[in-house]
Amino acid sequence: MSKKTTSKRNTGMADGTLLRRTAIQVLAAVDEGEKVDQALAGSPVSGPERATLQWLVLGTLREYLLLQKLSGLLLRKSWREEDRDLGFLLHLALFELRHGQRPAFAVVNDWVEMVETLQKSWAKGLMNAVLRRFLREREALEVQLADPDLGHPAWLAARLRTAYPEEWPEIAAANNQPAPLWLRVNTLRVSPQDYREALQAQGLSCRGVEWSEAALCLPESIPVATLPGWDAGWVAVQDAAAQMAAHILAPQSEERVLDACAAPGGKTAHLWAVGARRLDALDRSAERLQKVREALYRQGAIAHLQVADAGELQSWWNGEFYDAILLDAPCTGIGVIRRHPDIRLRRQEEDVLQAVAQQRQLLDALWACLRPGGRLLYATCSILPEENLLQIRAFLERHGDARQQYHPLTGQHLPGQQDMDGFYYALLVKAE
Ligand SMILES: C[S@@+](CC[C@H](N)C(=O)[O-])C[C@H]1O[C@@H](n2cnc3c(N)ncnc32)[C@H](O)[C@@H]1O
Repeated sequence: MSKKTTSKRNTGMADGTLLRRTAIQVLAAVDEGEKVDQALAGSPVSGPERATLQWLVLGTLREYLLLQKLSGLLLRKSWREEDRDLGFLLHLALFELRHGQRPAFAVVNDWVEMVETLQKSWAKGLMNAVLRRFLREREALEVQLADPDLGHPAWLAARLRTAYPEEWPEIAAANNQPAPLWLRVNTLRVSPQDYREALQAQGLSCRGVEWSEAALCLPESIPVATLPGWDAGWVAVQDAAAQMAAHILAPQSEERVLDACAAPGGKTAHLWAVGARRLDALDRSAERLQKVREALYRQGAIAHLQVADAGELQSWWNGEFYDAILLDAPCTGIGVIRRHPDIRLRRQEEDVLQAVAQQRQLLDALWACLRPGGRLLYATCSILPEENLLQIRAFLERHGDARQQYHPLTGQHLPGQQDMDGFYYALLVKAE
């Protein structure tokens, strides 16, 4: 697994106050259950400051539990409910002090000034003292933050340590790092070689993987609209681990193919790009299916889309068997928490059981619309064995007509391995 450090940023721009105030508001929205992507999308910060806002908010969320521990070491009491915003402010300030580029005195000053704009002047002295104490005692405090479990809720750390006793420190470290930007070159529009050259011409370096020429990794996120050929659909943003699906399923043009849980459509478009020409795609969310429509349009791919619960066959299936099915199942997302850092705050242990039950129901239902001899690719972006290995083991026990087929890309991929997300794939073949 590669070791990266959280990239540094300068937040001292002209309208830093708006940026800092927005960052506090986004954390408050996430704390109330909103997804961070949604909260950021509705923010008033635009232009280059937007990337800085994302860096600040996503980084703070990634380290949220660790920063909570740090605040606990620095403060004698926790914040009162009505002063939660001061807690968010302190987390953001500590994150910037730990990872930002600006001089520490400027960071402390600006965040202490923010206390006033929250109309809580009484807390200015306290905030100032706490931040300065962090700077004075930083070395000793950082030692107490070195425990890899700290970035994860206790239930999750315990489950992952049990499942992966040897790999756990590396998994934890990968989860606490920002994800790189993975692209998939849309080979319908441009060759991977030409696209690499277009990136180079823009001064962007990238590297690839040995199993697909179309997967390219940029070391850091940049606004996608600045990528060569973005509007013309030359590339899609898609982690390399997610790009494995189309290669494993390897659809042929004459085959009837189903993408059962398709939104936002990354894998649907890829299935088309690798050769599927009779492609059906379902999602139970009409709003999310609209994203599939947009993705297919931008990339020049075609599928028959339907809003439906894939597990309720009578509501959407016309009785014609499929040759190949992709079930990219709803899951806990525990393999992608470096990319969606709010997952570790929102996800509860009870969600695991619920996801497992949903996956089981979808697997059993979809198996019925696969032709004898056909194949079903089961995928999750989780690394919990209950959703993956154990789920498939139980499926094979329930279905005597199913066997698992080996492919070099199937199995459990852990977050950070070759800089990829955590993903699981099992290829199931139905007896003739
Ligand atoms: C992991 S995401 C799919 C990601 C997608 N395959 C891609 O590569 O862009 C899971 C999707 O399943 C959908 N979903 C959940 N339960 C479903 C069901 N019973 N039937 C159909 N879609 C479902 C969710 O709305 C969500 O969009």
